[in-house]
Amino acid sequence: MSSAKNLSPDTLVAQANHYIDTSTGALVPAIQPSTTYGRDVNYDLLGDYIYSRNHNPTFDQVERVICALDGGRDARIFASGQAAITAVLETVASGRHIVAPDIMYHGAQAWMRRLAEKRDIGLTLFDATSADGLANAIRPGQTDLVWIETLLNPTWDVLDIQKTADMAHGAGAILGVDATVTPPVTLKALDFGADIVFHSATKYLNGHSDVLGGVLVTGEMDDRWAEICEVRTLVGGTMGPFEAWLLLRGMRTLSIRCERAFASALKIARHFENHQKLKAVLYPGLTSHPGHHLAARQMTGGFGGMLSFLVDGDAHMAKKLISHLKIFIAATSLGGVESLVEHRRSVEGPESLVPDNLIRISIGIESVDDLIGDLQQALERL
Ligand SMILES: Cc1ncc(COP(=O)(O)O)c(C=O)c1O
Repeated sequence: MSSAKNLSPDTLVAQANHYIDTSTGALVPAIQPSTTYGRDVNYDLLGDYIYSRNHNPTFDQVERVICALDGGRDARIFASGQAAITAVLETVASGRHIVAPDIMYHGAQAWMRRLAEKRDIGLTLFDATSADGLANAIRPGQTDLVWIETLLNPTWDVLDIQKTADMAHGAGAILGVDATVTPPVTLKALDFGADIVFHSATKYLNGHSDVLGGVLVTGEMDDRWAEICEVRTLVGGTMGPFEAWLLLRGMRTLSIRCERAFASALKIARHFENHQKLKAVLYPGLTSHPGHHLAARQMTGGFGGMLSFLVDGDAHMAKKLISHLKIFIAATSLGGVESLVEHRRSVEGPESLVPDNLIRISIGIESVDDLIGDLQQALERL
């Protein structure tokens, strides 16, 4: 599955991979709601489809666009990001071992912990800020999956994807990369040696906070990928065709949404970098960020739309800041057109290592001056 033309990501998403329905001339694909597909008198299938838990023409449209965007060999969409991640984790056999960062998307980590508790699967969580945290975590011959995020959520620390891939491969493991906060208009993890790229399509890809979805893209048509596809069919974590169609529509504006959100995030990070009520602004676009140069090397379309503030105070102070905001909406999630703010420690629970003075901010596409003004007035009221 690859792009018919060598289109830039901007053109690719805007035209849904130059989509034209050759039978009708339509520029927008129809939604195919049928769950089942007929056979002829010889009991041969009439078309390429059998049952929508396996495949569906509307999924295929979306998968083709995402696969081309990430420069992969094949892609699969799932009912949610978590459904996609669990399909990857399901391929790790008993007796093998998973390595992941200690600060990352907490839902994925919770499933890894559950696997470690309920099945004979090892799990080592490493400190991504320590120089040899990853090297010490990997067990050559036993580690099967190294799972990282392109920017660690919600501290936005940056890992060297190529180095991590080399280390994983050297130990006989694959590298899976959660690229949710760095969609392929700015970072293509397969180009840096990742084996599988994951996106929660609920976030930037769809971008309108109205579809739950997950995507996996593979660099190779290997046994692992065949197993992942089998897991999707057998477990049934498939997306509905209406959601798939909405996702395709949302993706058409991915480039322009990201361009606006990423530029605003950089402006906001710079504006508040030395604010007296903040201990730090965490954003890889700031030259003061320890991962800035690495991020600049790995990201071609900006540093993302996510940043975090470390408030000069405790959890109470952080939540007070949130309560003073009038434009930012206090809600979980990210990557939508509306700017959101949240206190991650409260959302993640007692096992979370996220600092309790951290507020996570997802920048949307509103006026950046309005957003700066809102944060300014809230900080002044602290
Ligand atoms: C970085 C990251 N990965 C994975 C997920 C899980 O995706 P979903 O909520 O679509 O299941 C999320 C959701 O917040 C996320 O932020």
